[in-house]
Amino acid sequence: MSVGIDEISFYTSNYFLDLRTLADVQKIESGKYYQGIWQERMSMAAPDEDVVTMAANAANPLIDRVGTDTIGTLLFATETGIDQSKAAGVYVHRLLGLNSNCRVVELKQACYSATAAVQMACALVARQPNKKVLVIASDVARYDLDTSGEATQGCGAVAMLISTNPRLVEIDPEVGNYTEDVMDFWRPNYRTTAIVDGKYSTKIYLKSLKHAWENFVEVSSLAFNDFSHFCYHLPFSRMAEKAHKHLAKVNKVGLSLDQIEQQVEDTLHYNRVIGNSYTASMYIGLTSLLENCKDNLAGQKVGFFSYGSGCVAEFFSGTVVPGYEQCLHTLTHKNMLDARREVTYDEYLTLYHYPDPRDGEHHDIPESTTGRYRLAAISGHKREYVIC
Ligand code: CAA
Repeated sequence: MSVGIDEISFYTSNYFLDLRTLADVQKIESGKYYQGIWQERMSMAAPDEDVVTMAANAANPLIDRVGTDTIGTLLFATETGIDQSKAAGVYVHRLLGLNSNCRVVELKQACYSATAAVQMACALVARQPNKKVLVIASDVARYDLDTSGEATQGCGAVAMLISTNPRLVEIDPEVGNYTEDVMDFWRPNYRTTAIVDGKYSTKIYLKSLKHAWENFVEVSSLAFNDFSHFCYHLPFSRMAEKAHKHLAKVNKVGLSLDQIEQQVEDTLHYNRVIGNSYTASMYIGLTSLLENCKDNLAGQKVGFFSYGSGCVAEFFSGTVVPGYEQCLHTLTHKNMLDARREVTYDEYLTLYHYPDPRDGEHHDIPESTTGRYRLAAISGHKREYVIC
Protein backbone atom coordinates (compact mmCIF):
# COMPACT_ATOMS: atom_id res chain seq x y z
CA MET A 1 0.00 0.00 0.00
CA SER A 2 1.46 3.40 -0.96
CA VAL A 3 1.00 6.60 1.08
CA GLY A 4 1.69 10.22 0.16
CA ILE A 5 0.32 13.50 -1.16
CA ASP A 6 -3.12 13.25 -2.73
CA GLU A 7 -3.87 16.99 -3.13
CA ILE A 8 -1.77 20.16 -2.80
CA SER A 9 -2.80 23.81 -2.89
CA PHE A 10 -1.18 27.04 -1.68
CA TYR A 11 -2.12 30.62 -0.85
CA THR A 12 -0.25 33.89 -0.54
CA SER A 13 -1.28 37.45 0.22
CA ASN A 14 -2.65 39.76 -2.45
CA TYR A 15 0.09 42.35 -1.71
CA PHE A 16 3.71 42.23 -2.80
CA LEU A 17 6.74 44.49 -2.76
CA ASP A 18 8.99 44.37 -5.82
CA LEU A 19 12.58 43.99 -4.61
CA ARG A 20 13.63 46.65 -7.16
CA THR A 21 11.68 49.11 -5.00
CA LEU A 22 13.56 47.98 -1.89
CA ALA A 23 16.90 48.17 -3.74
CA ASP A 24 16.10 51.74 -4.93
CA VAL A 25 15.40 52.87 -1.36
CA GLN A 26 18.56 51.12 -0.13
CA LYS A 27 20.51 52.73 -3.01
CA ILE A 28 21.92 49.38 -4.14
CA GLU A 29 21.65 47.51 -7.45
CA SER A 30 18.53 45.39 -7.79
CA GLY A 31 20.85 42.74 -9.27
CA LYS A 32 21.75 41.78 -5.70
CA TYR A 33 18.20 40.49 -5.31
CA TYR A 34 17.18 39.50 -8.84
CA GLN A 35 20.47 37.74 -9.74
CA GLY A 36 22.26 37.46 -6.38
CA ILE A 37 19.56 35.62 -4.41
CA TRP A 38 17.07 34.95 -7.28
CA GLN A 39 14.24 36.84 -5.57
CA GLU A 40 12.00 39.28 -7.44
CA ARG A 41 9.05 39.99 -5.16
CA MET A 42 7.99 39.31 -1.60
CA SER A 43 4.42 38.86 -0.40
CA MET A 44 3.29 41.09 2.46
CA ALA A 45 0.41 39.90 4.63
CA ALA A 46 -2.62 42.21 4.76
CA PRO A 47 -3.56 43.62 8.20
CA ASP A 48 -6.49 41.18 8.37
CA GLU A 49 -4.42 38.14 7.44
CA ASP A 50 -2.41 35.78 9.63
CA VAL A 51 -1.39 32.12 9.63
CA VAL A 52 -4.98 31.04 10.30
CA THR A 53 -6.60 32.91 7.40
CA MET A 54 -3.79 31.97 5.00
CA ALA A 55 -4.08 28.32 6.04
CA ALA A 56 -7.85 28.26 5.49
CA ASN A 57 -7.42 29.98 2.12
CA ALA A 58 -4.78 27.43 1.07
CA ALA A 59 -7.02 24.50 2.02
CA ASN A 60 -10.23 25.89 0.55
CA PRO A 61 -9.80 24.65 -3.08
CA LEU A 62 -8.81 21.23 -1.81
CA ILE A 63 -11.81 20.95 0.52
CA ASP A 64 -14.11 22.16 -2.28
CA ARG A 65 -12.87 19.25 -4.37
CA VAL A 66 -12.67 16.36 -1.90
CA GLY A 67 -15.01 17.37 0.93
CA THR A 68 -14.43 16.94 4.64
CA ASP A 69 -15.88 13.50 5.41
CA THR A 70 -12.70 11.42 5.46
CA ILE A 71 -10.37 13.95 7.16
CA GLY A 72 -9.58 12.48 10.58
CA THR A 73 -6.68 14.74 11.58
CA LEU A 74 -5.48 18.27 10.87
CA LEU A 75 -1.77 18.86 11.50
CA PHE A 76 -0.82 22.55 11.49
CA ALA A 77 2.86 23.44 11.05
CA THR A 78 4.02 26.98 11.77
CA GLU A 79 6.72 29.09 13.38
CA THR A 80 4.46 32.16 13.42
CA GLY A 81 2.18 30.89 16.17
CA ILE A 82 -0.57 33.23 17.35
CA ASP A 83 -1.15 31.60 20.73
CA GLN A 84 1.08 29.77 23.21
CA SER A 85 -1.70 27.36 24.10
CA LYS A 86 -4.46 27.00 21.51
CA ALA A 87 -3.49 25.38 18.19
CA ALA A 88 -4.06 27.71 15.21
CA GLY A 89 -5.55 24.72 13.41
CA VAL A 90 -8.58 24.74 15.72
CA TYR A 91 -9.72 28.04 14.17
CA VAL A 92 -9.07 26.56 10.71
CA HIS A 93 -11.09 23.48 11.66
CA ARG A 94 -14.16 25.71 12.15
CA LEU A 95 -13.54 27.91 9.11
CA LEU A 96 -13.30 24.85 6.86
CA GLY A 97 -16.26 23.09 8.48
CA LEU A 98 -14.26 19.99 9.42
CA ASN A 99 -15.93 17.16 11.29
CA SER A 100 -16.00 17.52 15.09
CA ASN A 101 -14.39 14.06 15.33
CA CYS A 102 -11.30 15.38 13.52
CA ARG A 103 -8.29 15.84 15.86
CA VAL A 104 -6.14 18.98 15.56
CA VAL A 105 -2.60 19.72 16.72
CA GLU A 106 0.12 22.32 16.01
CA LEU A 107 3.77 21.42 15.34
CA LYS A 108 6.89 23.58 15.64
CA GLN A 109 10.54 23.24 14.67
CA ALA A 110 11.33 26.27 12.54
CA CYS A 111 10.86 25.59 8.81
CA TYR A 112 11.10 21.80 9.25
CA SER A 113 7.82 21.06 11.05
CA ALA A 114 5.68 20.60 7.92
CA THR A 115 7.89 17.65 7.02
CA ALA A 116 7.46 16.16 10.49
CA ALA A 117 3.71 16.60 9.92
CA VAL A 118 3.84 14.88 6.52
CA GLN A 119 5.79 11.91 7.94
CA MET A 120 3.42 11.59 10.92
CA ALA A 121 0.47 11.83 8.55
CA CYS A 122 1.88 9.02 6.37
CA ALA A 123 2.17 6.82 9.47
CA LEU A 124 -1.39 7.69 10.54
CA VAL A 125 -2.99 6.87 7.19
CA ALA A 126 -1.01 3.62 6.94
CA ARG A 127 -2.63 2.64 10.24
CA GLN A 128 -6.13 3.82 9.30
CA PRO A 129 -6.28 3.60 5.47
CA ASN A 130 -9.89 4.84 5.29
CA LYS A 131 -8.90 8.20 6.87
CA LYS A 132 -7.02 11.17 5.40
CA VAL A 133 -4.83 13.75 7.12
CA LEU A 134 -4.89 17.42 6.23
CA VAL A 135 -1.42 18.92 6.68
CA ILE A 136 -1.22 22.72 6.55
CA ALA A 137 1.98 24.77 6.78
CA SER A 138 1.51 28.52 7.17
CA ASP A 139 3.98 31.29 7.98
CA VAL A 140 4.84 34.98 7.79
CA ALA A 141 8.61 35.52 7.41
CA ARG A 142 9.63 38.78 9.07
CA TYR A 143 13.03 40.27 9.75
CA ASP A 144 14.04 43.66 11.12
CA LEU A 145 14.08 46.53 8.62
CA ASP A 146 17.51 47.49 7.27
CA THR A 147 19.01 44.05 7.91
CA SER A 148 20.31 41.61 5.30
CA GLY A 149 17.32 39.37 6.02
CA GLU A 150 14.80 42.08 5.03
CA ALA A 151 14.81 41.11 1.34
CA THR A 152 14.07 37.49 2.23
CA GLN A 153 10.69 38.12 3.87
CA GLY A 154 7.43 36.74 2.47
CA CYS A 155 4.31 34.87 3.52
CA GLY A 156 2.29 31.89 2.41
CA ALA A 157 0.53 28.68 3.31
CA VAL A 158 0.28 25.27 1.70
CA ALA A 159 -2.35 22.60 2.32
CA MET A 160 -1.80 18.92 1.53
CA LEU A 161 -4.05 15.94 1.81
CA ILE A 162 -2.13 12.83 2.88
CA SER A 163 -3.78 9.53 2.00
CA THR A 164 -3.22 5.96 0.91
CA ASN A 165 -2.96 5.42 -2.86
CA PRO A 166 -2.23 9.15 -3.36
CA ARG A 167 -2.85 10.78 -6.74
CA LEU A 168 0.19 13.12 -6.74
CA VAL A 169 3.32 11.86 -4.97
CA GLU A 170 4.02 8.54 -3.23
CA ILE A 171 6.36 9.09 -0.31
CA ASP A 172 9.01 6.46 0.42
CA PRO A 173 9.44 5.27 4.04
CA GLU A 174 13.24 5.77 4.09
CA VAL A 175 14.43 9.11 5.51
CA GLY A 176 17.75 10.65 6.51
CA ASN A 177 17.84 13.01 9.50
CA TYR A 178 20.29 15.43 11.06
CA THR A 179 19.81 17.37 14.30
CA GLU A 180 22.24 19.74 16.01
CA ASP A 181 21.72 22.39 18.71
CA VAL A 182 22.88 25.59 16.93
CA MET A 183 21.83 29.26 16.98
CA ASP A 184 21.63 30.25 13.32
CA PHE A 185 18.06 31.65 13.30
CA TRP A 186 15.59 31.91 16.17
CA ARG A 187 12.71 34.04 17.50
CA PRO A 188 12.24 34.34 21.26
CA ASN A 189 8.59 34.55 22.37
CA TYR A 190 8.84 38.29 23.07
CA ARG A 191 9.93 39.17 19.53
CA THR A 192 7.88 39.62 16.34
CA THR A 193 10.92 39.34 14.06
CA ALA A 194 13.50 36.58 13.77
CA ILE A 195 17.12 36.98 14.76
CA VAL A 196 19.45 35.45 12.19
CA ASP A 197 23.14 35.02 11.58
CA GLY A 198 22.69 34.99 7.79
CA LYS A 199 26.01 33.60 6.51
CA TYR A 200 26.25 31.08 9.36
CA SER A 201 22.67 29.89 8.72
CA THR A 202 23.55 29.18 5.10
CA LYS A 203 26.61 27.18 6.17
CA ILE A 204 24.60 25.15 8.68
CA TYR A 205 21.94 24.50 6.03
CA LEU A 206 24.60 23.00 3.73
CA LYS A 207 26.24 21.02 6.54
CA SER A 208 22.83 19.58 7.51
CA LEU A 209 22.14 18.67 3.88
CA LYS A 210 25.35 16.64 3.72
CA HIS A 211 24.63 14.81 6.97
CA ALA A 212 20.94 14.17 6.25
CA TRP A 213 21.85 12.86 2.78
CA GLU A 214 24.55 10.55 4.22
CA ASN A 215 21.99 9.20 6.70
CA PHE A 216 19.47 8.78 3.84
CA VAL A 217 21.79 6.69 1.64
CA GLU A 218 22.52 4.39 4.58
CA VAL A 219 18.86 3.31 4.58
CA SER A 220 17.74 3.87 0.97
CA SER A 221 18.78 2.01 -2.17
CA LEU A 222 18.53 5.28 -4.13
CA ALA A 223 21.59 7.21 -5.34
CA PHE A 224 21.94 10.85 -6.47
CA ASN A 225 21.52 9.97 -10.16
CA ASP A 226 18.20 8.18 -9.52
CA PHE A 227 16.48 11.55 -8.95
CA SER A 228 15.12 13.65 -11.80
CA HIS A 229 14.34 16.70 -9.60
CA PHE A 230 15.15 18.03 -6.14
CA CYS A 231 12.92 20.19 -3.92
CA TYR A 232 14.92 22.12 -1.32
CA HIS A 233 13.80 24.30 1.54
CA LEU A 234 13.75 27.79 -0.01
CA PRO A 235 14.68 30.66 2.34
CA PHE A 236 15.53 32.42 -0.95
CA SER A 237 15.44 30.80 -4.37
CA ARG A 238 19.17 30.74 -5.04
CA MET A 239 19.63 28.57 -1.94
CA ALA A 240 18.39 25.67 -4.11
CA GLU A 241 21.27 26.20 -6.52
CA LYS A 242 23.80 26.41 -3.68
CA ALA A 243 22.35 23.28 -2.06
CA HIS A 244 22.23 21.33 -5.29
CA LYS A 245 25.84 22.12 -6.19
CA HIS A 246 26.85 21.10 -2.67
CA LEU A 247 24.97 17.80 -2.83
CA ALA A 248 26.46 17.00 -6.25
CA LYS A 249 29.93 17.69 -4.82
CA VAL A 250 29.27 15.45 -1.80
CA ASN A 251 28.35 12.72 -4.30
CA LYS A 252 31.37 13.48 -6.52
CA VAL A 253 28.98 14.13 -9.43
CA GLY A 254 29.95 16.83 -11.93
CA LEU A 255 26.87 18.80 -13.03
CA SER A 256 26.70 21.36 -15.84
CA LEU A 257 24.80 24.61 -15.24
CA ASP A 258 22.08 23.24 -17.56
CA GLN A 259 21.73 20.09 -15.46
CA ILE A 260 21.52 22.09 -12.24
CA GLU A 261 18.85 24.28 -13.81
CA GLN A 262 16.92 21.28 -15.15
CA GLN A 263 16.89 19.58 -11.72
CA VAL A 264 15.82 22.55 -9.56
CA GLU A 265 14.59 25.48 -11.70
CA ASP A 266 10.95 24.43 -11.96
CA THR A 267 10.67 24.29 -8.16
CA LEU A 268 11.40 28.02 -7.94
CA HIS A 269 8.74 29.81 -10.04
CA TYR A 270 6.43 30.59 -7.14
CA ASN A 271 9.09 31.18 -4.48
CA ARG A 272 10.80 33.86 -6.62
CA VAL A 273 7.64 35.99 -6.43
CA ILE A 274 6.36 35.04 -2.95
CA GLY A 275 9.57 35.03 -0.89
CA ASN A 276 10.22 32.87 2.13
CA SER A 277 7.17 31.13 3.56
CA TYR A 278 9.21 29.13 6.10
CA THR A 279 7.36 25.81 6.75
CA ALA A 280 5.43 26.08 3.48
CA SER A 281 8.32 26.93 1.17
CA MET A 282 9.56 23.46 0.14
CA TYR A 283 6.00 22.28 -0.54
CA ILE A 284 5.17 25.41 -2.53
CA GLY A 285 8.35 24.43 -4.41
CA LEU A 286 6.88 20.98 -5.06
CA THR A 287 3.65 22.59 -6.29
CA SER A 288 5.71 24.77 -8.62
CA LEU A 289 7.49 21.71 -10.01
CA LEU A 290 4.30 19.71 -10.59
CA GLU A 291 2.47 22.66 -12.17
CA ASN A 292 5.27 24.14 -14.30
CA CYS A 293 7.55 21.32 -15.45
CA LYS A 294 7.08 20.81 -19.19
CA ASP A 295 8.25 17.18 -19.00
CA ASN A 296 5.82 14.56 -17.83
CA LEU A 297 6.99 13.71 -14.34
CA ALA A 298 5.02 10.46 -13.98
CA GLY A 299 7.18 7.77 -12.41
CA GLN A 300 10.06 10.21 -11.71
CA LYS A 301 11.87 10.24 -8.37
CA VAL A 302 11.96 13.57 -6.52
CA GLY A 303 14.39 14.25 -3.66
CA PHE A 304 13.24 16.50 -0.80
CA PHE A 305 15.48 18.39 1.61
CA SER A 306 13.66 20.01 4.50
CA TYR A 307 15.60 22.31 6.84
CA GLY A 308 14.54 24.02 10.05
CA SER A 309 17.03 26.30 11.75
CA GLY A 310 18.17 25.45 15.19
CA CYS A 311 18.43 22.81 13.60
CA VAL A 312 16.59 19.73 12.32
CA ALA A 313 16.97 18.52 8.72
CA GLU A 314 15.55 15.65 6.71
CA PHE A 315 16.16 14.17 3.29
CA PHE A 316 13.44 11.93 1.85
CA SER A 317 12.17 10.77 -1.51
CA GLY A 318 8.97 10.42 -3.46
CA THR A 319 7.66 9.17 -6.80
CA VAL A 320 5.31 11.21 -8.96
CA VAL A 321 2.10 9.29 -9.70
CA PRO A 322 0.87 8.86 -13.33
CA GLY A 323 -2.13 11.15 -13.97
CA TYR A 324 -0.91 13.70 -11.38
CA GLU A 325 -1.40 16.56 -13.84
CA GLN A 326 -5.18 16.11 -13.70
CA CYS A 327 -5.24 16.60 -9.91
CA LEU A 328 -3.56 20.02 -9.60
CA HIS A 329 -4.92 23.53 -8.92
CA THR A 330 -2.69 25.28 -11.45
CA LEU A 331 -5.21 27.83 -12.74
CA THR A 332 -6.33 28.85 -9.24
CA HIS A 333 -2.69 29.50 -8.30
CA LYS A 334 -1.86 31.40 -11.47
CA ASN A 335 -4.98 33.58 -11.16
CA MET A 336 -4.20 34.31 -7.52
CA LEU A 337 -0.63 35.39 -8.30
CA ASP A 338 -1.73 37.45 -11.32
CA ALA A 339 -4.34 39.30 -9.26
CA ARG A 340 -1.87 40.54 -6.63
CA ARG A 341 -1.27 44.26 -6.18
CA GLU A 342 2.18 45.81 -6.00
CA VAL A 343 2.69 48.13 -3.02
CA THR A 344 4.85 51.24 -2.83
CA TYR A 345 7.65 51.42 -0.29
CA ASP A 346 5.47 53.56 2.02
CA GLU A 347 2.61 51.08 1.77
CA TYR A 348 5.08 48.29 2.57
CA LEU A 349 6.14 50.16 5.72
CA THR A 350 2.48 50.62 6.70
CA LEU A 351 1.83 46.88 6.32
CA TYR A 352 5.06 46.08 8.17
CA HIS A 353 4.21 48.33 11.11
CA TYR A 354 0.48 47.55 11.22
CA PRO A 355 -0.44 47.48 14.92
CA ASP A 356 -0.91 44.16 16.68
CA PRO A 357 -3.23 45.19 19.54
CA ARG A 358 -2.42 43.59 22.89
CA ASP A 359 -4.49 45.71 25.33
CA GLY A 360 -7.64 43.53 25.47
CA GLU A 361 -9.85 46.34 24.07
CA HIS A 362 -12.08 45.80 21.01
CA HIS A 363 -10.22 46.49 17.74
CA ASP A 364 -11.94 46.10 14.37
CA ILE A 365 -9.50 45.32 11.59
CA PRO A 366 -10.32 47.00 8.25
CA GLU A 367 -11.12 44.75 5.30
CA SER A 368 -8.05 44.47 3.14
CA THR A 369 -7.38 40.89 2.04
CA THR A 370 -9.03 39.49 -1.08
CA GLY A 371 -8.97 36.02 0.50
CA ARG A 372 -12.12 34.17 1.55
CA TYR A 373 -11.20 34.17 5.24
CA ARG A 374 -10.15 37.19 7.28
CA LEU A 375 -9.31 38.31 10.79
CA ALA A 376 -12.15 40.76 11.47
CA ALA A 377 -11.33 41.87 15.02
CA ILE A 378 -9.29 41.28 18.14
CA SER A 379 -11.42 41.75 21.22
CA GLY A 380 -10.87 40.76 24.84
CA HIS A 381 -7.63 39.07 23.70
CA LYS A 382 -9.68 36.86 21.34
CA ARG A 383 -9.09 36.68 17.60
CA GLU A 384 -12.35 36.84 15.59
CA TYR A 385 -12.22 35.20 12.17
CA VAL A 386 -14.92 35.46 9.53
CA ILE A 387 -15.77 33.90 6.18
CA CYS A 388 -16.27 36.64 3.54
N1 CAA B 1 24.37 41.64 -9.00
C1 CAA B 1 24.40 40.28 -8.93
N2 CAA B 1 24.71 39.62 -7.76
C2 CAA B 1 24.98 40.37 -6.68
C3 CAA B 1 24.97 41.78 -6.69
C4 CAA B 1 24.65 42.42 -7.93
N3 CAA B 1 24.60 43.74 -8.03
N4 CAA B 1 25.29 42.21 -5.47
C5 CAA B 1 25.50 41.13 -4.69
N5 CAA B 1 25.31 40.01 -5.43
C6 CAA B 1 25.40 38.63 -4.99
C7 CAA B 1 26.54 38.35 -4.01
O1 CAA B 1 27.77 38.17 -4.70
C8 CAA B 1 26.04 37.09 -3.33
O2 CAA B 1 26.27 35.99 -4.15
P1 CAA B 1 27.03 34.67 -3.57
O3 CAA B 1 26.06 34.05 -2.60
O4 CAA B 1 27.28 33.85 -4.79
O5 CAA B 1 28.27 35.14 -2.88
C9 CAA B 1 24.51 37.32 -3.27
O6 CAA B 1 24.23 38.35 -4.21
C10 CAA B 1 24.01 37.78 -1.92
O7 CAA B 1 24.79 38.87 -1.52
P2 CAA B 1 25.39 38.92 -0.03
O8 CAA B 1 26.00 37.60 0.32
O9 CAA B 1 26.24 40.13 0.10
O10 CAA B 1 24.02 39.14 0.75
P3 CAA B 1 23.78 39.42 2.28
O11 CAA B 1 24.88 38.93 3.11
O12 CAA B 1 23.37 40.83 2.43
O13 CAA B 1 22.47 38.53 2.52
C11 CAA B 1 21.64 36.40 3.27
C12 CAA B 1 22.31 37.16 2.13
C13 CAA B 1 22.69 36.14 4.35
C14 CAA B 1 21.11 35.07 2.76
C15 CAA B 1 20.49 37.25 3.85
O14 CAA B 1 19.52 37.46 2.88
C16 CAA B 1 19.86 36.66 5.10
O15 CAA B 1 20.39 36.78 6.20
N6 CAA B 1 18.65 36.02 4.94
C17 CAA B 1 17.94 35.42 6.05
C18 CAA B 1 18.58 34.13 6.51
C19 CAA B 1 18.48 33.03 5.50
O16 CAA B 1 17.70 33.04 4.57
N7 CAA B 1 19.34 31.98 5.69
C20 CAA B 1 19.32 30.82 4.84
C21 CAA B 1 19.65 29.55 5.61
S1 CAA B 1 18.63 29.43 7.09
C22 CAA B 1 17.14 28.76 6.57
O17 CAA B 1 17.06 28.23 5.50
C23 CAA B 1 15.95 28.88 7.46
C24 CAA B 1 15.11 30.00 6.98
O18 CAA B 1 14.13 29.80 6.25
C25 CAA B 1 15.45 31.36 7.39
